[in-house]
Amino acid sequence: MINNNPIGLFDSGIGGTSIWKEIHQLLPFENTIYLADSKNAPYGEKTKEQIIDLSFKNTEFLLQQNCKLIVVACNTATTNAIKELRAHFKVPFIGIEPAIKPAALHSKTQKIGILATKGTLNSSLFAKNVEQFHTIQIIEQIGYGLVELIESGQIESEKMNTLLKEYLTPMIKSDIDYLVLGCSHYPYLVPQIKKILPNHITIIDSGEAVARQTKKILEDLVGFRDAHGSQHVFYTNSNPSVLETILGNTYPVLSKDF
Ligand code: SIN
Repeated sequence: MINNNPIGLFDSGIGGTSIWKEIHQLLPFENTIYLADSKNAPYGEKTKEQIIDLSFKNTEFLLQQNCKLIVVACNTATTNAIKELRAHFKVPFIGIEPAIKPAALHSKTQKIGILATKGTLNSSLFAKNVEQFHTIQIIEQIGYGLVELIESGQIESEKMNTLLKEYLTPMIKSDIDYLVLGCSHYPYLVPQIKKILPNHITIIDSGEAVARQTKKILEDLVGFRDAHGSQHVFYTNSNPSVLETILGNTYPVLSKDF
């Protein structure tokens, strides 16, 4: 099946580009449109209703650009709004949920840590996901302040290091052997996190799994693009320089007030 329309992605800011990179690597000939709603970041501190409203607004924007599939490249938006999005819009949605399953299946200590936003950890979808792994001890930690620092370009700051140490030390003491990154912003913190965690703790996120699922939905339902080369458009409603930097200044970023 052929479908030359772009794949749409949205996030509360620049973090979802970690998902975009995985999708682009697996599906290099697909065109994409990425929407960074940085003006409203962090979603993790908002109410479910606010997150649903923002997710609807982002989806409407992407559908106006004829996107054939929407990737909700934000854990908080997925866990709080994907059910409502799927019920309201006809287009297929792919969401990201914390990679608890692979961590739980491979953990030898039977203890895993999860770092995510308040909105994700408090959602009913997350509770349902965790329920299946009741034999595993899951140490949850809200990443207060991390998204704000990433959005303001302070990934390598001392402030970030202090917060990460505060959040990760209790998990290390609890003998976790897997750390699940449950927010699409957090893969950008892996170099900092690795400096704090002992080597035997494996860090996992959901990027590759989301890319594989995107490929499967294109294959089964939507259709692939049938041309080589690809175009990528990035929109932000905040300062474009942070997004440009995270993309290695390789793609133009358009400012738009949405
Ligand atoms: C946030 O905006 O609070 C983080 C987004 C995420 O959960 O991926």
